[in-house]
Amino acid sequence: MSHILEVRHVTKKFGGLIANSDISFNVNENEILSVIGPNGAGKSTLFKMISSFLPTTTGEVLFKGERISNLKPHVVARKGVVRTFQETTIFKSMTVRESIIVAQHLRARASLAGYFWGTRTAHEDVDSFGQYADDLIEFLGMTEIGNEQASNLPQGNLRALGIAIGLATDPKVLLLDEPFAGMNHDETMKMVNLVRKVRDDRGVTVLLVEHDMPAVMNISDRIVVLNFGEMIAEGVPAEIQNNERVIEAYLGSADDEIGI
Ligand SMILES: Nc1ncnc2c1ncn2[C@@H]1O[C@H](COP(=O)(O)OP(=O)(O)OP(=O)(O)O)[C@@H](O)[C@H]1O
Ligand SMILES: [Mg+2]
Repeated sequence: MSHILEVRHVTKKFGGLIANSDISFNVNENEILSVIGPNGAGKSTLFKMISSFLPTTTGEVLFKGERISNLKPHVVARKGVVRTFQETTIFKSMTVRESIIVAQHLRARASLAGYFWGTRTAHEDVDSFGQYADDLIEFLGMTEIGNEQASNLPQGNLRALGIAIGLATDPKVLLLDEPFAGMNHDETMKMVNLVRKVRDDRGVTVLLVEHDMPAVMNISDRIVVLNFGEMIAEGVPAEIQNNERVIEAYLGSADDEIGI
C-alpha cells in the first residue's frame, strides 16, 4: 500500500512547551484518518505542521515521498495538501459560487492584478474556474444555494462551503479541523456522508481532527491518538475504543468521555 503522507519524528516546541513530541505515522492513499485526543493534546498544531502553516522544530512530513514540512503553506497547497479553516470570514460578503472562484484564484497562475486588468490568461482562468465551481457546487449538493451570500448561510451549509473552498484547488489531501463542531446529530451525519463522498468520488485522502466520538468511530478507517503532545495509540476504531491508554487519557481529562 502506498503512503501518501509520512509524518516522521515530528516535534513542536513553543518555548518550553512541547506541543508535539516525536510523532510518527503514515497515511494511506484514499483513507480517512482521524487525529483525536483531549483539549490541548496538540492536534491542531500537528495539522498546522502538515500543511506548513507552522514549521516543525524537528522532524519532517513527506507527501508522496517529498518533504513538504517547513515550506510556504501556498506551496504545499499547490502540491495538493490543503487545510480548511473553521472560519471562512473573508468570503462572507460573497456568494457561494464567488467564494469558490476566488479560492481557485488565490492559488492560480494568473495574478489578481491580471484578473482585474483582464489579461488573456486571466480570462481563460475565469472561464475554467466558473465551470469548476459549478461542478463542485453540484457535487456537494449546494446547487440551490450557489448564489446565496455566504453570510446568510446556516452553520451546516457554511461548513460545507468551507469544504468546497478547500476543494477549490482539487487537492489530494484535505485536512479538516473539527468539521462537525457545533453541529447537531443530523447535521453531523450529513457532513459525515459529504466527507465520505469527497473521498469515494474524488479520491481525496482525508485527515480530520474531531471531538465527536460517534462520528469519528463511524467515519474513520484509522485513528491516531494524541495526549499531552505524545502519540499514545494508532489503530482501527475498534482497537482505539478498547485501548486502555486511550480510555485512561479521556477519563483522566476534563474533556468528554470517549463515548463508548
Ligand atoms: N502559537 C502557539 N504558541 C504557544 N503555544 C501554543 C501555540 N499554539 C498552540 N499552543 C499550545 O500547544 C498545545 C497544543 O495546542 P493545540 O491547539 O495543538 O491543541 P488541540 O489538541 O488542537 O486542542 P483543542 O482540542 O482544544 O483544539 C496547547 O498547550 C496550546 O496552548
Ligand atoms: Mg485544536
